[in-house]
Amino acid sequence: MKQITVNSSAGPYAVYCGRGLLAHVGALLGPLGAISSVFALSSHRVWKHWGSKLEASLKHHGHRDTILFDDAESKKTLATVEGICRRLARAGADRRSLLVALGGGVVGDVAGFVAACYARGVRIVHVPSTLVAQVDSSVGGKTGVNLPEGKNLVGAFYPPALVVTDTNLLKTLPEREFRAGLFEVIKYGIIRDVALFRLLERRLANLLRQHPASVNWVVERCVRVKAEYVSLDEREAGLRRALNFGHTVGHALEAVARYRGLLHGEAVGWGMIAAAWLSVERGLLKPEIANRISRLVARAGPLPELPRITPEKLVEFMQADKKTVAGSLHFVLARDIGDVDTFGDIPRDMVMRVISNLRRYLADAVR
Ligand SMILES: NC(=O)c1ccc[n+]([C@@H]2O[C@H](COP(=O)([O-])OP(=O)(O)OC[C@H]3O[C@@H](n4cnc5c(N)ncnc54)[C@H](O)[C@@H]3O)[C@@H](O)[C@H]2O)c1
Ligand SMILES: [Zn+2]
Repeated sequence: MKQITVNSSAGPYAVYCGRGLLAHVGALLGPLGAISSVFALSSHRVWKHWGSKLEASLKHHGHRDTILFDDAESKKTLATVEGICRRLARAGADRRSLLVALGGGVVGDVAGFVAACYARGVRIVHVPSTLVAQVDSSVGGKTGVNLPEGKNLVGAFYPPALVVTDTNLLKTLPEREFRAGLFEVIKYGIIRDVALFRLLERRLANLLRQHPASVNWVVERCVRVKAEYVSLDEREAGLRRALNFGHTVGHALEAVARYRGLLHGEAVGWGMIAAAWLSVERGLLKPEIANRISRLVARAGPLPELPRITPEKLVEFMQADKKTVAGSLHFVLARDIGDVDTFGDIPRDMVMRVISNLRRYLADAVR
């Protein structure tokens, strides 16, 4: 088991990474201090595979109740949050209760927001069960839900008390969801970790087969990168923006596709190809490196076909993104593998040129 420490405004917390940790969640609660009752929060789909193991581990550690909810993205809403809070109230949860959230990013974001609000804040332990949740959403304290007006529009920064990452949980994850997580893994290599990027180039096949030692090594590396960024810049004032590599175009593609047919990670896959070639257009990155990035993304695929849309329309969606500052286009661009920065005022026509060529970059990479 590896321990990685994250610093947050509410104090440091630990992320434990390893195989088989689910059975030890209860025992790991010890250092958290007095707990009046423990509530497990999860979805039916995840609980079916892993619930009994978690429940057994919490048995002698104050487990009072389990609350299951639908983890479809469409149910990541205030109504779901209200339903969970009411169940907690009826079951007698108080300010010293602890929530244990077992699931992917949807469960984590919803449960994290419940923890931030219920009784003005109760402690939460994340037990992430998807690759995306393990390498990304469980670390950093971003929580929240969607509104019909937009994704993640209501939320809070609310750091967990502890994260327990058991890579065994990925065994039951649908393959496409695993691949979607791999795109975020590639992102960590590009923004901060050349050794990780090289390992992915050499051992992607092992990872796709979920070779346990490779998966463990990779998850831990990614958690370290994420932990480093959020510890230095919890509220995304500057440095943390690097984590958005591939996300400017990625988010726009997701919005265009109306969050259907394209998983977040897949949209980021396309977005990273765009960011790499935009870096070349800006004179920052050698074309060979952009091609290496495109090739690795392609190998982690298949990427679903791009939504049918003109580059103009896609740029409009980018300008509507909540991270756009006063309408100007900001991109995280790369100078090399492991070296990225944020660049403002990227000319619109440069972005459109790169977007028009996206399919070709991918085709060239797999040739
Ligand atoms: N808070 C953050 O910093 C942050 C970062 C990235 C993503 N997110 C959010 O996370 C969400 C996406 O999360 P995700 O990619 O983890 O997907 P998800 O939570 O939607 O889960 C994907 C699917 O896999 C199922 N599943 C989860 N774990 C499983 C397992 N071990 N075995 C079998 N099935 C399993 C789920 O039931 C679901 O059907 C989005 O809402 C996104 O906004 C948040
Ligand atoms: Zn992402």
